[in-house]
Amino acid sequence: MKQVAVLAGDGIGPEVMDEAIKVLEAVRKKFDLSLRFVTATVGGAAIDQHGEALPAATLQLCEQSDAILFGSVGGPQWESLPPERQPERASLLPLRKHFDLFCNLRPARVFPALTGACPLRADIVGDGFDILVVRELTSDIYFGTPRGREGSGPDERGFDTMSYTRAEIERISRMAFAAARLRRKRVTSVDKANVLSTMVLWRQVVTEVAREFSDVEVRHIYVDNATMQLVRDPHQFDVMLCGNMFGDIISDEAAMLTGSMGMLASASLNSERFGLFEPAGGSAPDIAGKGIANPLAQILSAAMMLRYSFGREDAADAIDRAVEKTLVRGIRTGDIATGGETPVTTAAMGDAVVAAL
Ligand code: NAD
Ligand code: IPM
Ligand code: MN
Repeated sequence: MKQVAVLAGDGIGPEVMDEAIKVLEAVRKKFDLSLRFVTATVGGAAIDQHGEALPAATLQLCEQSDAILFGSVGGPQWESLPPERQPERASLLPLRKHFDLFCNLRPARVFPALTGACPLRADIVGDGFDILVVRELTSDIYFGTPRGREGSGPDERGFDTMSYTRAEIERISRMAFAAARLRRKRVTSVDKANVLSTMVLWRQVVTEVAREFSDVEVRHIYVDNATMQLVRDPHQFDVMLCGNMFGDIISDEAAMLTGSMGMLASASLNSERFGLFEPAGGSAPDIAGKGIANPLAQILSAAMMLRYSFGREDAADAIDRAVEKTLVRGIRTGDIATGGETPVTTAAMGDAVVAAL
């Protein structure tokens, strides 16, 4: 029996999570999977109920589970709290760190039925592209010390520290090259080695690791150029290897290229293949509570959980195919409706995926 800790969180989190659970229940029956779901509060919802974003009971449930299915956290209601108590900093980042989830996989693939939802010109999109962003998730300027605020008046300053150790760069690089081996065998490492010492080390270590993977082609690109090349010609990329901060930015851009923020799933894994699975997007306060959010990123994240943590390629593939079929049938939430289709609700999209299974 595999136990999944279900942490829906805030904003659209609970809305899209309901649909992912619906789909998981359907594959559970179809593939006779032995799965159990246990829910817990996290983020702003947990602050409201228990006074803290990551209650001890929630962390304990995660520790006792085989995987974490996560929605999203944060929102305007909690933005006036001291930064260290806010949902993002006090729940999601500590969870990533606690479980050493250093490897974040964000697959930005344009479904053929959705090429029209890509904001790029049709001649650039062609028949679609398939990029895997491999983002380091437990280091970089997100976690470097010292960090903080000091002084007052015009000299008051805020500071963070960008930092990577050789070991941290080596392990994420190996994940990226190993992933590329199973794909089109090209890694583009994104850095800022023309300015930052951290990134000089990054480029050097990636170059060294590349020698262990002589069948994989490696290329280095500065992050500013990378964001430009992504919209100029996304087909040039296979695996994009990024540090935590650049990967955050690049993956939102890549998400939109696939049609919507609501399409990008993610897996955050540690070296034991324990993982947290969540959409790359956030709690979308602008559409929360309306029942119109796109649940596909959450559903595809659930598929990644079956694939990476439970080794069930069959069930994961079935979900991917059901999503594809649903899109081919022209079922669209508002964010991906471009061809004059009448947008469906979050729940109707979930139902359609279940029906396609
Ligand atoms: P966001 O990703 O929540 O929203 C950006 C835009 O994308 C919005 O217009 C939103 O409506 C749209 N969008 C996102 N997901 C969608 C979906 N499933 N369907 C349709 N449209 C979707 O980013 P933001 O507005 O910068 O952040 C809002 C809050 O979420 C902030 O508090 C932020 O810190 C938090 N956040 C949390 C996570 C997470 O929990 N993993 C990730 C990113 C942002
Ligand atoms: C993401 C989010 C998070 C990040 C925030 C909410 C801490 O933007 O998962 O991409 O920056 O990693
Ligand atoms: Mn982000």
